[in-house]
Amino acid sequence: MKNVVLIGFMGSGKSTCGRVIASHLGYRFVDMDRAIEDKWGMSIPQMFKEYGEDFFRQKEKEMARKLAGKKHIVISTGGGTVKDPENMAVLRSTGKIICLQASVDTLMIRLGRRGRRPVLDAKEAELGDRRKAIEALLEERKHLYEGADFYVNSGEQSGLEVARQVASFMRKK
Ligand code: S3P
Repeated sequence: MKNVVLIGFMGSGKSTCGRVIASHLGYRFVDMDRAIEDKWGMSIPQMFKEYGEDFFRQKEKEMARKLAGKKHIVISTGGGTVKDPENMAVLRSTGKIICLQASVDTLMIRLGRRGRRPVLDAKEAELGDRRKAIEALLEERKHLYEGADFYVNSGEQSGLEVARQVASFMRKK
């Protein structure tokens, strides 16, 4: 079986569901953002602040390449990993792309805390409203989340239910 590559907007449940999916499949779980933070010894908001988004995207790209070389892992990508087609190509070469989706209402609840997601915070600063910022980013990125191998609604279902569906999709492959 291939790797499981979870894509989806910030707050779509990639990390939470990813852990459960990994335990269902007997895979290792890797959160790309956490792996970057561990490697560089700083949080992502700190990285954005000190070195800028381009620096983070470069580190993200290196991490995507590295993780694509591993086997039997569930990879939780960052919400913006999909922006770089090369990231998707390399991750797809060894993995199935699974997209998690949730409504704007759910995302609003999950993304309420500021200071953790620099891209969303910056959009909010630009538009003056968090909900509008989520909607605008979703619209900008809509096409990037298309073309996944499987879609799951993670908003109204528990992590366990999501994991069951993903595991069953993976086993059929
Ligand atoms: C980002 C999403 C974040 C993180 C970084 C940028 C984005 O990941 O990679 O803050 O551009 O959407 P999560 O989706 O885990 O919040």
